Amino acid sequence: MPSTQLKNGDTSWFVHDRFGLFIHWGLYALPARHEWVKHHERIPDERYDLYFRHFDPDLYDPAEWAAAAAGAGMKYFVVTTKHHEGFCLWDSKHTDYKATRTPCGRDLLKPMVEAFRERGLRTGFYHSLIDWHHHQYIIDPHIGPLRDHPDRERLNQGRSQAKYAEYLHAQVRELLSDFGTVDILWFDFSYPKPDGSGKGRDDWQSEELLRLVRRLQPDILLDDRLDLPVDMPGAWDIKTPEQAQPREGITVDGKPVVWEACQTFSGSWGYFRDETTWRGVDELIRTLIDCVSKGGNLLLNVGPTGRGEFDARALDRLRGIGAWMKRHGRAIYGCTQAPSEFPTPQDCRLTYNPDSNRIYVHMFAWPYKHLHLDGAFSDRVEYAQFLNDASEVRMGMDSWHANQLATDPRKTLTLTLPLVPPDVPIPVVELFLK
Ligand code: GLC
Repeated sequence: MPSTQLKNGDTSWFVHDRFGLFIHWGLYALPARHEWVKHHERIPDERYDLYFRHFDPDLYDPAEWAAAAAGAGMKYFVVTTKHHEGFCLWDSKHTDYKATRTPCGRDLLKPMVEAFRERGLRTGFYHSLIDWHHHQYIIDPHIGPLRDHPDRERLNQGRSQAKYAEYLHAQVRELLSDFGTVDILWFDFSYPKPDGSGKGRDDWQSEELLRLVRRLQPDILLDDRLDLPVDMPGAWDIKTPEQAQPREGITVDGKPVVWEACQTFSGSWGYFRDETTWRGVDELIRTLIDCVSKGGNLLLNVGPTGRGEFDARALDRLRGIGAWMKRHGRAIYGCTQAPSEFPTPQDCRLTYNPDSNRIYVHMFAWPYKHLHLDGAFSDRVEYAQFLNDASEVRMGMDSWHANQLATDPRKTLTLTLPLVPPDVPIPVVELFLK
């Protein structure tokens, strides 16, 4: 089938749901010092095997994970079926490097998919293109524990990247055949170099892989890391900025595209015991709002422990976000960037639901008495209320203040606010448009 016939996946649910859970779980949960630990510390296979031989997540209960994600207001999840270390969470026919062969002795993926589905979350698979364990994978000078090994050339003798690509394709076929509907496939990642020393579309045989994916699951959403041309039809559905907030909605050739920022609580994706740079609940909520205000999604990561749990810090953040989402989800789901005639007021973000025709003003800082909304707001708002308790926010201001501030009510809608903000991390005013 020529590539021009490939169709994109159906993003309609994705741009509605806005908030998902990323899960990075593998052997690296045991060293607990970054999922790249094998690369960072140049750990040889023999030593890394220690983690394989001790992997025993005896407290793993995916129903608890799914409950935590659903409680936070997340609507989909994306889990590392295999990360760069090469270890597989499911009982793949094509390798022994999998959970069933560790002391854990069971498939970890199937029950996870079932538990999240039961909570109504959609399923996404992250799958690493990179593999630091497979015996056919060519060791390159950039990435992997053996990247600067003096005998790299010799170690590569007898390896065939094409054979590795066969393995990659066979596993993708398995993942997209044996787990029912998979809503997202998240390949990671390519790093082509001008001199051919990196890895990209030829190393993964990306075009063929793409055709396989589109054939097996025609509605699936695909990320953008296969190193295919950005303008190739059907090559990707989602742009995936990582560990940073885009300054504005993402465009390709000047046109807005579907995007999802993926971020961590603290820097590492895998469980990292000693990392102390954890982000707070308020800032995480602001990040989610910021994504939606720019027409994007947020995929927020948890790295479960080697016992198989979300640790207390992660649960604390998820609960905090969930408490806010319970009352403010309506300003997130189904929402997007506000139309340009509604400029963003100072210290705020706007989200907009085109179906209900409401604008949400997320107040990142609490102003003294008044919030001034310029532009089209002045004659388009029928009613205003706080979203947390549906209490009215009075429109307009008294003449004494209006005279002092010299605002023109024909050009500016002023909201009169209480001195004390609602007791929520981010107050939101819901504006019902006429
Ligand atoms: C990266 C990293 C990785 C993480 C991923 C998530 O590319 O290699 O460890 O899984 O980003 O976006």
